[in-house]
Amino acid sequence: MNEEKCNNLTSHPTTVNQDDREKLLGQKGQVILLTGLSGAGKSTIAYAVEKKLHDLSKLTYVLDGDSIRLGLNEDLGFSKEDRIENMRRMKEISIILSQTGVIVLLSFIAPIEKERLIFADTFRERYTEVYVTCPLEICRERDPKGLYEKVERGMIKEFTGVASVYEPPKSPHIVINTHELSLEASVEVVVEHILSL
Ligand code: ADX
Repeated sequence: MNEEKCNNLTSHPTTVNQDDREKLLGQKGQVILLTGLSGAGKSTIAYAVEKKLHDLSKLTYVLDGDSIRLGLNEDLGFSKEDRIENMRRMKEISIILSQTGVIVLLSFIAPIEKERLIFADTFRERYTEVYVTCPLEICRERDPKGLYEKVERGMIKEFTGVASVYEPPKSPHIVINTHELSLEASVEVVVEHILSL
């Protein structure tokens, strides 16, 4: 960050804080990161969890990698540097939303362990890391967006899991093997965990 700019900024004291907002909503802000390869099932689970929580009158928001990259992060590509910046911005939006009392469901690859640890450090007991996983071969077979096929044809470079590294989480709170567990059962596990916090 620019040092001169940083030295000349002051946060304004707040009159309404996170606690006040959470009392208003009757829930606590949380940040749930669903991390894993493209095609593993992150977004399918995130949106199904959101629906279930919404039906239970919980205020939620899904921050989906693809959607955010179409807007706020449209200037970012898939170099390591850009993926780190993607994660930093996702974290900053999550700070704002969780301080509003929202249950934030982050669905994006988030391939770098060091950056995920920053999420854990920032949100602490309000943070849940869900590793959504299945063998790369199955992601390739599913290929819901036709991207693995494009990779085969040399149309996409730096694709995660193929030509760009995905570091599996070292200590996720939840691991979901989507080739073994049904969508309903996966949603149940995540929702129960969220409601228990
Ligand atoms: S991350 O690695 O920076 O966390 P993010 O989840 O935001 O990735 O974006 C990944 C999505 O972008 C994928 O679901 C896929 O639809 C699309 N995509 C396009 N190019 C790539 C690529 N080279 N690697 C991974 N995903 C890509």
